Amino acid sequence: MAVNQETPANPGAIGFIPAPPERMKAKPDETCLDFGKIFTDYMFVMDYADGAWRDARIQPYGPFMMDPASSVLHYSQSVFEGLKAYRAADGSIRLFRAKDNFERMNTSCERLCIPKINPDFALEAMKRLLRLEAEWVPSAPDTTMYIRPTIIAVDPFLGVHAAEKYIFYIILSPSGAYFPDGMSPVRIFVEDEFVRAVRGGMGFSKTGGNYAASILAGAVAKRRGFTQVLWLDGVRQRFVEEVGSMNIFFKVRGELWTPKLNGSILPGITRSSVIALAQAMGVKVVEKDIDIYELFELGARGELEEAFGSGTAAVISPVGMLRLQNRDLIINNFHTGPLAQGLYDTLTGVQYGRLTDPLGWTETL
Ligand code: COI
Repeated sequence: MAVNQETPANPGAIGFIPAPPERMKAKPDETCLDFGKIFTDYMFVMDYADGAWRDARIQPYGPFMMDPASSVLHYSQSVFEGLKAYRAADGSIRLFRAKDNFERMNTSCERLCIPKINPDFALEAMKRLLRLEAEWVPSAPDTTMYIRPTIIAVDPFLGVHAAEKYIFYIILSPSGAYFPDGMSPVRIFVEDEFVRAVRGGMGFSKTGGNYAASILAGAVAKRRGFTQVLWLDGVRQRFVEEVGSMNIFFKVRGELWTPKLNGSILPGITRSSVIALAQAMGVKVVEKDIDIYELFELGARGELEEAFGSGTAAVISPVGMLRLQNRDLIINNFHTGPLAQGLYDTLTGVQYGRLTDPLGWTETL
């Protein structure tokens, strides 16, 4: 099993299995798209067996036949990615830092003992799928084609070890905003009971288990009226890590602070884009350990000017309030701050092709 394969071979030509006409679906109404609920007619699939990725193909979207003993169903050996395709005003379809997603997927694969994919091949396969499904890429404001590459372990075996068979697939979901209220500031519960990840664990990997670990805390927070939880470090439960589906930023005395990547935080591609854009705007960005109690003190003194999350699905999402135990911290009077708005406008401007892209992050399909 090729766990540390450095340059996985290109699995060759991409086959095509056409969908019977009766399986083709009607396109959704773009003006009321939810996030991640509708899927297109086709998906990309390839299998891993006998030590190699093989049988790359585009086939009709549909369920997999899986043995009930498949390892992913028992031990969660899986990784995934999330990225988007954007419909520009001129009708073209644009991608944003897409290869970075496949490179990050390989980092997750290493941690989960999953054979790596060839990022160039995966990118090409995704582009072919998108070209085939181009009519599904929505054009209504703030809509995108959300893309979900995933690898699952499918050995029918109940022993705990790395599988020898995997499926890599890419599905496409025409989507609206992740948070239904768009850019309205959200209420976040600071979680000091449950933890998401610890150093040495899988926190830096994009794997289902990290999200499974977050569901209970997220559900409790939601019942209490909060949108998501802010995770603290798993040892001292004191240092800020990330929010449910986003990395987190704080504007303090004019500087932009974000938790430094420490092994238990997801290295967000939007996070790294926000850092670069803020620096280009002349804002000093500081990646460091952020003590939640000190942050509340800064807030009480009026020195915490803005807070916002960043993520592919969430884009930039302003935080209007944090609750830590019985203390509430209202941020910027529950308004979207100018830095969050400026970063949102610049980032989405580059993604949709309304602004120039000096950093070379985008490409047209
Ligand atoms: C993304 O932002 O693309 C994610 O994968 C977060 C999510 C779990 C919706």
